[in-house]
Amino acid sequence: MNSAAASPRVTRRLRPDQTAEAAAILSAGGTLAFPTETVYGLGADATSGEAVAGVYAAKNRPRFNPLISHLPDAGAAFAHGVFNADARRLADAFWPGPLTLVVPFAESSAISDLARAGLPSVALRVPRHAIARELLRAASRPIVAPSANRSGHVSPTTAAHVLADLDGAIDAVLDGGATEVGVESTIIACLGDPPQLLRAGGVPRDQIEKLLGRPLGVSEGAIIAPGMLASHYAPAAALRLDAVEIKPGEAALLFGPHAPAGVERAKLAINLSPKGDLAEAASRLFAALRECDAAGVAAIAVAPIPDHGLGEAIRDRLIRAAAPRS
Ligand code: TXA
Ligand code: MG
Repeated sequence: MNSAAASPRVTRRLRPDQTAEAAAILSAGGTLAFPTETVYGLGADATSGEAVAGVYAAKNRPRFNPLISHLPDAGAAFAHGVFNADARRLADAFWPGPLTLVVPFAESSAISDLARAGLPSVALRVPRHAIARELLRAASRPIVAPSANRSGHVSPTTAAHVLADLDGAIDAVLDGGATEVGVESTIIACLGDPPQLLRAGGVPRDQIEKLLGRPLGVSEGAIIAPGMLASHYAPAAALRLDAVEIKPGEAALLFGPHAPAGVERAKLAINLSPKGDLAEAASRLFAALRECDAAGVAAIAVAPIPDHGLGEAIRDRLIRAAAPRS
């Protein structure tokens, strides 16, 4: 079960009440996809280099890209990193929830070097999804969990999405239905002053800045979160943002009650939120991108989406999906 190569195997389907079986797979060094409130994660024992290698292999993920370690509660997470005052306040306010904190690695922690890609820092998260928390408690060890997709693909928000990418490459998937938030966690680095936003996500920036009482820093130049490469979250179709007119043959991703001109010529039209609700739009975003791919459209036009609140994370994912492919 803990072979590092993504060799073909039968991927078990587990029901939400099978968290004990799921935890046993993790304890034995296996790979298990499970729901969180953001997206499905591909879990493995963070303290086992061999188990973590299985995650990199199944996803075909470059090993320079570090993984987030997941814990059942803040108290458990504090043991693995050095939390300054800002990190403490963020953990107290937003855990459990869709926030990841990057902090200096605690030397006493057993999280493996490979999970951190050798960095002196560690990414920690306490999800609020009930099944995830039960699983993490039962596994009683830190669990790495990148999004459960092949590297470079759109993140999965259902067990079916996970299987579309990873059936036969992982040991099991725990099916907890569709995820609630739909975009990945917000990542904040608390390594200096001020804390830096590494990835917009499920906790909007304004809530974080309000709590801290000052603006977050921006990571300039170097890619501080190695996974934030430009062409990420990519569907097969080409994509353009802020479209005010739909061209013939394009798929249309809409937002709010007003449709762009020419929408009647769209090959496929999906409204992320007819009432213009950003949380609803975030929860539907990745499924909509997968639907466009399944319909075989060559191009997707996206109507304007505001950039406040969860809109920042939605626009970030769309900009990456629109970037030229490497
Ligand atoms: O919502 C989420 O965060 C999901 C669920 C499953 O928890 N996980 C997720 O993991 O999105 P992943 O691996 O797809 O994205 C994690 C990001 C990557 O961009 C990675 O480079 C960054 O976190 N990261 C991890 N450790 C880091 C570190 N020590 N310093 C900077 N960035 C780090
Ligand atoms: Mg990912």
